[in-house]
Amino acid sequence: MKKIVFSAVQPSGALHIGNYLGAIKNWVELQKNYRCIFCIADYHAITLKQNPRILKKKIFELVCIYLSAGINPKKSIIFVQSQVPYHTELAWILNCITKISELKRMTQFKQKSKEHPEKVNVGLFDYPVLMASDILLYQTDLVPVGKDQKQHIELTRSLARRFNKEFGKTFKIPKALIKKQSEKIMGLDNPLKKMSKSAEDPYNYIALTDTPKLIREKIKKAITDSGKEIKYDKEKKPGISNLLTIYSLLSKKSIPQLENQYKNKTYAEFKKDLAEVIIKSLTPFQEKLKYYQSKPEYVKNILEQGRKKAEKISQATIKEAKKKLGLLCS
Ligand code: TYM
Repeated sequence: MKKIVFSAVQPSGALHIGNYLGAIKNWVELQKNYRCIFCIADYHAITLKQNPRILKKKIFELVCIYLSAGINPKKSIIFVQSQVPYHTELAWILNCITKISELKRMTQFKQKSKEHPEKVNVGLFDYPVLMASDILLYQTDLVPVGKDQKQHIELTRSLARRFNKEFGKTFKIPKALIKKQSEKIMGLDNPLKKMSKSAEDPYNYIALTDTPKLIREKIKKAITDSGKEIKYDKEKKPGISNLLTIYSLLSKKSIPQLENQYKNKTYAEFKKDLAEVIIKSLTPFQEKLKYYQSKPEYVKNILEQGRKKAEKISQATIKEAKKKLGLLCS
């Protein structure tokens, strides 16, 4: 039996190269050796206010992004979270073994509620429990994500262990799979903070749908550091180090190779080439994206197949969990 990989992205904001390099790109490789399940986490997206019309578009666009990035629906399951009711059902069960103090410690919740205190709702607070239920429903072995999700996966592991200990073995204990080099792509406008979909300034990120002109402009404007040298030093040169990381991940050249290539060259020359490397990687992707977006029936069909398969797997787990709890189940 192949091991199970599960991951998800929220269909909110502009998907950027941080999401691609930190998560989706790694999923593509995992399809070779694992049974992969990739979800569109739309219930997570509504923890912040969404425009219904735009949300619907974003859900569809995200499926097309998965396909264009190389997720193969013949090998992997692609489905939408809200179309499989067991996610919220298990979340309720897990809520009953989660301590409020555990959720209060979640860094993302603390950050989001500090930034927008007026937007804090119960869903936002409970978000990590829904994420735990996403993962545990599929008896997941590995969860490929960026570093910002690590704490949520640690909570998932604690909840699974707690449930198993109290009620008998029901859930597999999953592990986070975080690739060091791509674990945290930083913002172009502030290399001390992660690149973020919800950033107010679009110059924070390169969206997967940005045009070549905009990519050139954004890279030109990206913050660099004092000095002239193109050298990786996360502490002293966070801006150039982040750009070197992006360059290396997209070109498959190592950082020392790039440092060597750009010895005695200027930041401007380096940035000019980097913009072209990004454009070259995104162009074929964007062509595929247009193709899939013009085939709504094909995409709907993939989601329907995915929903059926996801429902079957998760139903077995929810039944087991309910039985262990002493609840009636059909
Ligand atoms: P989301 O939608 O914020 O991000 C999707 C994926 O992109 C990664 N990521 C990054 N990686 C590197 N550098 C960055 N700057 C960067 N920004 C984001 C994230 O770590 C993530 O892997 N809660 C999740 C979605 C989710 C989920 C799940 C993930 C729902 N259920 C179950 C795994 C398993 C989220 O909001 O990701």
